[in-house]
Amino acid sequence: MKVLVLGSGGREHALCWAISKSPLCEKLFCIPGNAGINSEAECVNIKINNFNSIKKFIKKEKINFVVVGPEEPLVNGIVDKLKKLKIKTFGPNKKASILESSKSFTKDFCKRNNIPTASYKKFKNYRKAINYIQNINYPIVIKASGLAAGKGVFILKNKSQSKKILKDLMVKKKFGNSGKEVVIEDYLIGEEISSLALVDGKNYIPLLLSQDHKKIFENDKGPNTGGMGAYCPLPYLKRNIQNKINKEIIEPTIKAMNKEERPFNGILYSGLMLVKEKIYLIEYNVRFGDPECQPLIFLLKSDLLKVLNNCVSKKLNKTKIKWKKEYALSVVMVNKGYPNKFKKNSIIKNLNLINEDQNTKVFHSGTSLDNQNKIVASGGRVLTVTSSDKNFNSVKKKVYQTVKKLKWKNSFFRKDIGFRAKKLK
Ligand code: AMP
Ligand code: GLY
Repeated sequence: MKVLVLGSGGREHALCWAISKSPLCEKLFCIPGNAGINSEAECVNIKINNFNSIKKFIKKEKINFVVVGPEEPLVNGIVDKLKKLKIKTFGPNKKASILESSKSFTKDFCKRNNIPTASYKKFKNYRKAINYIQNINYPIVIKASGLAAGKGVFILKNKSQSKKILKDLMVKKKFGNSGKEVVIEDYLIGEEISSLALVDGKNYIPLLLSQDHKKIFENDKGPNTGGMGAYCPLPYLKRNIQNKINKEIIEPTIKAMNKEERPFNGILYSGLMLVKEKIYLIEYNVRFGDPECQPLIFLLKSDLLKVLNNCVSKKLNKTKIKWKKEYALSVVMVNKGYPNKFKKNSIIKNLNLINEDQNTKVFHSGTSLDNQNKIVASGGRVLTVTSSDKNFNSVKKKVYQTVKKLKWKNSFFRKDIGFRAKKLK
């Protein structure tokens, strides 16, 4: 097969790395890719939202299979458009991608289908939202309903903080149309985990459970980011929890999406909050998580391309997935200042000193080549260093040995990835 991966992050690097090893993969392209993806795939400099150019490229290269990494093209209906051209594409169509594109839809969807989620109210009217927050218990969570690159969710301790956020979202329109409608929901206290499952419309295969670290600073302090590190599987978690997630979240979601004529095919990512014995859905994403994808793919023993192809062909009931019986842990290295303003384009030193083998891999996110062909840190999130080991404590040590070798002006990383593992009992 001639395969095209769309995207440019650590997630797409991991996908390309695994797909390039598949005996089914004749040739692999990535649009637009990055300086690391370059070593696994031919990167093509087309903007990811430029569908006409992507279409031309697919025709010219006779691509047979497309894997869509990020949410935006999915939400904009790329799968529907490629299906019309008879190109096999991994990812949900536009109708099914609403699970990620509208928090307001998702909350109502959960309610009418008995999928456990925090209690909430939705508002399109600023005045009504302001009235609502006058006499309620704090903290609360205010969310812009539309896509906001993980930045549209606010945890507020009191009325005055909440007023400011409502004004920013609904009057000042800081997130454009994404904040036209807001969801205000109860604040849940618990442990957050990520459940990713391959879904072919009817059948599903849960991937290993993982945990992301969304805050920029150690001990989960500071603003939310796209994710600063992740690991899988969860070493101390009770075994029966996957069963509970299947019964209470994944199966009802698949069934309800079919009932509502939005059959889901792709990765169903459920962000979950474990509150004592209960599980609540915090959000759905309709694609691999970044960075969760990196440790997951690192432990996958099966042929990823074959698995994704079986998913698109609705043959997951005939598919088995094998995992390395180890732990994988990824640490994201960023440009200092991210998720706010940061300086960029410093040369990354020592990449050539890293011994990449089956136990360590440096996945690239925001990297590019400067005019002297040197690799520079061009994005907010720059590298996802990933290691695996049979022992959870050793995997942490191993990954940080590599992280500490990699340096550039303004590099930053969290030193405590994995610290919540023991809390997940
Ligand atoms: P979301 O984009 O909906 O996943 O929200 C971003 C982050 O905000 C989540 O990963 C949680 O850490 C936090 N969050 C969202 N909703 C809630 C909630 N109801 N209670 C507590 N934390 C939440
Ligand atoms: N790691 C969270 C996300 O991909 O949205």
